[in-house]
Amino acid sequence: MKSSRIKGFYKLKRGERLDALREFADIPSDQLRVFSQDSALTFETTDLFVENAVGSYPLPLGVATSFKINGEDYLIPMAVEESSVIAASSNAARIVYEAGGFQAKCLSSLMIGQIQLLDLPLEKWKECVDKITANKQFLIETANAVHPRLLMRGGGVQDIEVHTNDNSEKPFLVVHVLIDTRDAMGANIINTVCERLAPHLQEISGARIGLKILSNLADRKLFQATCRIDPKFLMSSDLVGAIAPEEIAQRVWEAFVFADNDPYRAATHNKGIMNGVDPVVIVTGNDWRAIEAGAHAFAAKTGRYRSLSKWQVDSKGFLVGELTIPLQLGTVGGVTRLHPSARIALQILGNPTAEELGKIIACSGLAANLAALRALCTTGIQKGHMRLHAKNIAFAAGAQGAEVEIIADLLIQRKQINASEAEMALREYRERERQKREPYLSHTNPS
Ligand code: MEV
Repeated sequence: MKSSRIKGFYKLKRGERLDALREFADIPSDQLRVFSQDSALTFETTDLFVENAVGSYPLPLGVATSFKINGEDYLIPMAVEESSVIAASSNAARIVYEAGGFQAKCLSSLMIGQIQLLDLPLEKWKECVDKITANKQFLIETANAVHPRLLMRGGGVQDIEVHTNDNSEKPFLVVHVLIDTRDAMGANIINTVCERLAPHLQEISGARIGLKILSNLADRKLFQATCRIDPKFLMSSDLVGAIAPEEIAQRVWEAFVFADNDPYRAATHNKGIMNGVDPVVIVTGNDWRAIEAGAHAFAAKTGRYRSLSKWQVDSKGFLVGELTIPLQLGTVGGVTRLHPSARIALQILGNPTAEELGKIIACSGLAANLAALRALCTTGIQKGHMRLHAKNIAFAAGAQGAEVEIIADLLIQRKQINASEAEMALREYRERERQKREPYLSHTNPS
């Protein structure tokens, strides 16, 4: 019987951890070696980042081109496993580039920390809210004393709010601490501040303190990207004669209406937006689970899960897109600076502040959304996907170098994009090539 209870795994050396893994999962050591190949991330760094480290997991890393944001050009690094994302984002960015580029802004830049207050009888709630409000300045100063350097950098706690929730089986109040964490994502700062304020809140309110933790629904840290596109830029050679440019704009709007009114579609639509968001969040060493949680919670803020983006056709017939999204990001501290790839990625982006990075990422999300909607309402999504998928299948079947494109084309022509067809196509292709090189041999020796 194999056991997952490996005591002191973290104390083992890397080789010993891999040995334990090999034994547990019964994987030959030569196969397990892929874990131990150092990429940009050395094992020393990996071991610092996480407990029980055995290696690292590389993701494809590429660069999306043609982004113009607030008048400046950007190449956007992306780490992502889905083959079509970078190509699609670059394609949509090119359309927007030709139309004048993206505009982006930060709407608000405060993170939220929550402190839960429990066991106060309902009749005391008003008094509690009044007392906390009366002590607001003291609480803000106490909180800001925790991170004086943050204050010096222009950040810090800016406000304190009290919210009530009497609809649940266990009614509670919750104090929101609104903090500007500047270029840090701020999880540690916020959590420390909440923990330091808790005893004071207990004293002021007489309540029992519950949880003290940041909120990932960062709806006070909102970024907005917009674009306005002359429909003629939505055309491409494969669409000429099939659809009018104005019709594409109209259909993108219809696709938005679908997503905004149908949560089943909204989830997929928003996933398409996150296709442009997560790869940049990941490559810059940021917390993509926080961003995902925040984005989807924000999409449901009205009580119904809706589209994060808006598309409309204006009075001039131009397609106007807008994405508003909460982005809790950092460009200093933690993985952003320690991970060598994240450091270079930030350098490629011009070493942005967290606010600048938020604007870039919002545009990347809007670009991915435009790419998906434009494809879905014209040729369908599979055409582009299948080309990349066919290349993956050809590669997996053993095609090398130029063979990959050739076999992928054959698979697409035959409308058979699968492993056995790829293997057969590769065998046939190699045989034809061999015959071209050695025509005499192929005549005399057909085997
Ligand atoms: C696939 O990764 C993303 C799409 O499904 C997004 C969408 O449907 O809008 C194409």
